[in-house]
Amino acid sequence: MRKRNGISRVISGNWRPSETRRQGATNETAMLYPIVKYGAEVLTRPATRVTKFDADFETLCADMFESMYAAQGVGLAAPQIGKSVRLAVIDVTVGKNPEAKLVLVNPEIIHAEGEHRDEEGCLSVPGFRGAVIRPQFVTVRAQNAKGETYEMRGEGLLGRAFCHEIDHLNGVLFIQHLSLIKRDLIKRKIRKLSKRGEW
Ligand code: NI
Repeated sequence: MRKRNGISRVISGNWRPSETRRQGATNETAMLYPIVKYGAEVLTRPATRVTKFDADFETLCADMFESMYAAQGVGLAAPQIGKSVRLAVIDVTVGKNPEAKLVLVNPEIIHAEGEHRDEEGCLSVPGFRGAVIRPQFVTVRAQNAKGETYEMRGEGLLGRAFCHEIDHLNGVLFIQHLSLIKRDLIKRKIRKLSKRGEW
């Protein structure tokens, strides 16, 4: 999920993935993945469960955080870096509080209540936002990077991020929750950008 006032233009326009490991990142050996945009098939299909929790998987989780921070996001799901597995990372403090870093592996919503309408954006749909109704309180059950199961309750933005990222793992983008008119408008604009080679 995208931060409200992120530096979206920089990221969506000219940002290129680094093939080499980035210097000066929180994790000095982090790999920055390019973020896949709306139109890519990988964003439309349900991802497969993670079953292997090894060192490579922990590295992938760390790289997901760095890729998310580089894009100024508060959440990133593995399909957004082209990997169709049930993994997402969330940090609603955008790196300000290390304790807010959450790895969600094979997550599921086990309880939801209330309603909360707010603007939402997505790193895979840069430059567009729309109001989406989500539950006010959301409890997820997930595994961490080591495969340990935990449960967590989120309110407001965190609960919204849980829903948004789990949607990604099911091949659903936030624009699918918008009104038909609003969604078609965004799709038309993206088509225009694509034609100009700007998407
Ligand atoms: Ni998203």
